Amino acid sequence: MADATDVKSPETETRTANLSLPDGQSLDLPVTVGVENECAVNVGALRSETGYITLDPSYGNTGSCQSDITFIDGEKGILRYRGYPIEQLAQKSSFTEVAYLLIWGELPTKQQLENFSMLLTENEMLHEGLRNAFEGFPPYGHPMAILSAMINASACYHPDLMEMSGEDDFPIAAAKLISKVRTIAAFSYKKSIGQPARYPNPALSYCANFLHMMFSIPYGRYEPEPEATKALSQFLILHADHEQNCSTSTVRMVGSSQANLSASVAAGVCALWGPLHGGANMAVIEMLTRIQETGMSVKDYVEKVKKREMKLMGFGHRVYKNFDPRAKILQKAAADLLDKLGITDRRLEIARELEEAALTDDYFVSRKLYPNVDFYSGIILNAIGIPTNMFTVMFAIGRMPGWIAHWYEAYKQAGRICRPRQIYTGPTERQYVPIAER
Ligand code: CMC
Repeated sequence: MADATDVKSPETETRTANLSLPDGQSLDLPVTVGVENECAVNVGALRSETGYITLDPSYGNTGSCQSDITFIDGEKGILRYRGYPIEQLAQKSSFTEVAYLLIWGELPTKQQLENFSMLLTENEMLHEGLRNAFEGFPPYGHPMAILSAMINASACYHPDLMEMSGEDDFPIAAAKLISKVRTIAAFSYKKSIGQPARYPNPALSYCANFLHMMFSIPYGRYEPEPEATKALSQFLILHADHEQNCSTSTVRMVGSSQANLSASVAAGVCALWGPLHGGANMAVIEMLTRIQETGMSVKDYVEKVKKREMKLMGFGHRVYKNFDPRAKILQKAAADLLDKLGITDRRLEIARELEEAALTDDYFVSRKLYPNVDFYSGIILNAIGIPTNMFTVMFAIGRMPGWIAHWYEAYKQAGRICRPRQIYTGPTERQYVPIAER
C-alpha cells in the first residue's frame, strides 16, 4: 500500500480566474489544481451565469475529467501509472500486474495477483457460439473490424458484460474483457491465414498463452521464445494507459450515457483504429518498409515531409513536447530483441536515421516533434512474428486495462452524460421549398 502521506488530493484553490466578456459581464471562475500542480479554470458555471460557452475544437485546452489513474508531463517527457514511473514498470513488472494496478489503484499482493491471474485464466475461453461467429467474416476482413464486432458480440454470450448488477460484478467483467480480447485477436489471425483456431492453454502466462494461440498448430510442438514473451509483456505494459487520449475519451464518453463496459470498450477499439492514433503503428512500419523497398534516402523522405507531401508517421504528439518515454524504452527494446533473436531488420536502422535527421532539423525541432510510442513498436511486433495488419489489435490488447480503469473510474464518479455544445455556423432560418420549385 502507498504511504497515505504520499497521496495528495486535488484542491479547488481559493484563487479564482476573472473573466471579462465583451458585453460587460464579468465572472470569477474557480481554479482547480491537480496534485502535480497542473491548473485548470473551472468553467462549470459559465453558461448558466453568462450564456457563453467555451470553444475548443479538438480539446487541446480542455480537461474533461479529474482522474487518479495516469499522469503525463508532456514538457518533461514523464509518464506514470498510479504514480509509478513507466520506466520502472516496463523493466520490473508484468502486464497482468500493471493491469491490476491501473484498474484497482495499487500494486497487487502476491495473493491478489494470483487471484487476478486465475480470474483471467477462468475467462480465457470464448463461447463456442461466439467462436462460430468468426465464420461470418471474410478471411481478408480487417482484424480491427473483427475485434470491435466480436467484443460487442461477446456481450450477447456473456450478459453479465452488459448488466453489472453491482460493483461486485466488475472484477469478473474486467477479467473477461482483458482475457477474451487476447483470444479473439488470436482466433481472428488464425481465421485470416486459414488455420484452425487454437484454444488457450491455462498453464501458460497471459503473454505466452497469446503467442501459443497465434503460432502453434495442432500436433506441432511450439514453445514461445522467452525473449518474445518478455518483449510482448513490455509492449503491452507501455500501451496500457495514456490518460485522456482519443480512444480513452471515447470509452468515457460512451460510458457516460450509462452504456455497458463492453459496448464502451468496443467503441474505444474503433477510435483507436485511425492512423493518427493507434493505427499509426501500422503506418510507421509501412513507411519504413516503403523507404527500404524503394531505396529512397532518409534525407529525401524528410524533405517530402517538410513539403507536406506526407507525414513522418510515429512522430509528434498532442501532449509530449519532448521525448515520449515509451519511444525511448521501445527503441532499446527493439535493438535488444533483434539481437537476442538473431534477426537483422534494416528498418530499425532506417528508423534511427529518420529520428536523427528529424531531431537535427528545424522543421521538427521548432514544432517539438519527437518519436512517439508507435515509432519503434512495429519492429518488435514483426520480430515476434505478429503480422503488420494485427499491430493496432496489439495496441488494443495493451490498452484494454486502461480503458477499463477509466470506464470504472467514471462509473464510480457517476457524473453527468458527456454532451459538448457547439457554435452553429450553418444557414439561419429559411423556408422549405417544394421539390418541383427547386
Ligand atoms: N510529421 C510532420 N509534421 C507533423 C507531424 C508529423 N508526424 N506531426 C505534427 N506535425 C506538424 C503539423 O503539420 C503542424 O505543423 P504546422 O503548425 O506548421 O501546421 C505541427 O506539427 C503541429 O501538429 P498538429 O497536427 O497540430 O498536432 P496535433 O497535436 O493536432 O496532432 C498527432 C498530434 C499525433 C496526431 C500528429 O503529431 C501526427 O499526425 N503524428 C503522426 C501520426 C502518429 O504518429 N500518431 C500516433 C500518436 S502517439 C500514439 C497514439 O496516440 O496512439
